[in-house]
Amino acid sequence: MAVERTLLIIKPDATAAGNAGNILAMLEGQGGFTVKALRMEHLTEKSAQKFYEVHRERPFYGELVEFMTSGPCIPMVLEKEDAIASLRTFIGATNPAEAAEGTVRKLYASNIQNNAVHASDSPESAAKEIPHFFPSMTAEVV
Ligand code: CMP
Repeated sequence: MAVERTLLIIKPDATAAGNAGNILAMLEGQGGFTVKALRMEHLTEKSAQKFYEVHRERPFYGELVEFMTSGPCIPMVLEKEDAIASLRTFIGATNPAEAAEGTVRKLYASNIQNNAVHASDSPESAAKEIPHFFPSMTAEVV
């Protein structure tokens, strides 16, 4: 299986709750992901709207943008073999009520919106999402 890069965001709910350190430790430790880039950023409305453009027509879009701009988040680029699919499994289902035991969302998400983390859902998404936060980087493993 190929080594890949993917984007993860520790969302404002998890950052505000003081769970960022525990989530990062899970990702690096148990998850075995390597952090290739990371920073803390308070998203502007414009940036959050653009990042979640694919959900523009969904009823939750406005609230999602409001939530994502409510405080600082921590975007990062993670690398591992089969990183994209394996990170999605590691964080658990979007809705924490459906997330498997031991996943990041089962442990740290409050509800379907305030769900602690975001992870790219496909190679196409990773290729768009990584440069959204890290303009000098691509999804290509170098
Ligand atoms: P994320 O994985 O970042 O992708 C889209 C986000 O929209 C999702 O996590 C949630 O934060 C938010 N969201 C809010 N309501 C819903 C919903 N009903 N279905 C999917 N995502 C939702």
